[in-house]
Amino acid sequence: MDKKWWKESVVYQIYPRSFKDSNGDGIGDLQGIISKLDYLNHLGVDVVWLCPVYQSPNDDNGYDISNYQSIMNDFGTLSDWEELLAGLHSRGMKLIMDLVVNHSSDEHAWFVESRKSQDNPYRDYYIWSPGKDGQPPNDWGSFFSGSAWEYDEKSEEYYLHLFSRKQPDLNWDNPKLRKEIYDMMTWWLDKGIDGFRMDVINLISKVPGLPSVSGESNGEQPTYHFGGDYFVNGPRVHEYMQEMNREVLSKYDIMTVGEAVNVTPEEASLYVSEDRNELNMVFHFELMDVDSGPGGKWNVQPWKLADIKSIISKWQVALDGKGWNSLYMNNHDQPRMLSRFGDDKLFPKESGKMLATLLHTLQGTPYIYQGEEIGMTNVQFASIDDYKDIEIVNMYKEYLAAGHSEEKIMNSIYIKGRDNGRTPMQWNSESQAGFTTGTPWLAVNPNYQDINVENALADPDSIFYYYKKLIELRKQHEIIVYGSYTILAEENEQVYAYLRTLGEEQLLVVLNFFGEPATFDLPSTVKFQAKELLISNYEVNPEEELNTIQLRPYEARVYKLK
Ligand code: NOJ
Repeated sequence: MDKKWWKESVVYQIYPRSFKDSNGDGIGDLQGIISKLDYLNHLGVDVVWLCPVYQSPNDDNGYDISNYQSIMNDFGTLSDWEELLAGLHSRGMKLIMDLVVNHSSDEHAWFVESRKSQDNPYRDYYIWSPGKDGQPPNDWGSFFSGSAWEYDEKSEEYYLHLFSRKQPDLNWDNPKLRKEIYDMMTWWLDKGIDGFRMDVINLISKVPGLPSVSGESNGEQPTYHFGGDYFVNGPRVHEYMQEMNREVLSKYDIMTVGEAVNVTPEEASLYVSEDRNELNMVFHFELMDVDSGPGGKWNVQPWKLADIKSIISKWQVALDGKGWNSLYMNNHDQPRMLSRFGDDKLFPKESGKMLATLLHTLQGTPYIYQGEEIGMTNVQFASIDDYKDIEIVNMYKEYLAAGHSEEKIMNSIYIKGRDNGRTPMQWNSESQAGFTTGTPWLAVNPNYQDINVENALADPDSIFYYYKKLIELRKQHEIIVYGSYTILAEENEQVYAYLRTLGEEQLLVVLNFFGEPATFDLPSTVKFQAKELLISNYEVNPEEELNTIQLRPYEARVYKLK
């Protein structure tokens, strides 16, 4: 397997709106991030992924871009951004930028032109249709509720928006549009950035004819369906990814990670196999869907360890030697990992460290989402008015209108809502957690008095220092990066254990996933002469025999075996 810097890196994801406000307007900004670069350096991360900082009317917090080559006023200026890049590089860290090109904002100049008239030169930059019998052309639903089509009164056609109506989908079948995107990417790369995270990149190619999911409309009020069959890994997506690679990516020593909705490992390998020249890795959603019922994301059901093990194992094995995995359990679109997969009340430290151990000892590149390293948790706001996320707000209205109880809806928001991950970063126990001197755009989690960076840095046993150690171990032991993965004792209902192998060396990882004691029997097939305990989240006697291990609640151990 080829060695690459991005395989050996740990990425830290920043959601700028919620990271650190420098000017008291309640919104995080670039100078705020700059003021925290030493903190990131202290943690030891190699790469920062910056969520969108481009000009945007913020219908979807920057994922609706109105100008790809200028910075959002709330966040600062291009010269602030240059200072940030220089500040990262001078500390030996890299920067990857978010690339959001499945759609733009409806306020982007291209769309402003496009909607002027049916014969406007920019008309074909987007996906327009006359519809049928006064109805949208098909029954696709938007990811953010309702139809994926919006009628434009002035130019008398519908345009496609898989996300909000202020996020019209770009028409990748238009070579002129593709060229504009490649030029824009080159512009950023020439400024010295180190790669891209590509938003919903596997949705860019739509099936011609835009067929309905449920066949022809019968003229009644349509119900909307997930039209994934017609735009997930669409017919020309790999042609476009290879073209993008040829025209842009291949010219730079960068890393790329594509967000890929609904992909299997087999489909993902088409994007990430090293011989296909597309992307380095993808973010898949299988693990993030592990607690979704048949009704989708909001139909919450408890996750099962057996499913977590089988999903991770499948991806570890499928991509080994071919492509590369991304490793994450939360981000700005997900609830907090500690609340979802750990126990944020009884065992926050133990379970936070256990989950970190998992993410940092699998094959792939680990992504830390801001606040994860100090054990930030989900939040429960009393009223829907306290929530800002367009997905939450639209779903709330839709579900209420459909007759669901408010209590049930709020409960699903508490468990799955994206604002869980977007509350401001908790820096200290001062007012607004030290995030802002003003009023934050989204309320601070009330637990900031306990959970904050200042406390974490003052406690040698904190989750923060455990992350720091995991990051250091990755630099010291190649096996953590490159070793192959084998699951152990798959049938154990409480313990997740696996072996990593590289040449003569083995790495043994044993994780108790629950708040009760558990037993792990090491299979006799695992042979070794010497062992070294690399890390654990409890005091452990390093000489302890490994045949049968008694694990305390959420105990995690990593041994190197020779
Ligand atoms: C995925 C992004 O991560 C999410 O925040 C956004 O709402 C959608 N893509 C649409 O851009």
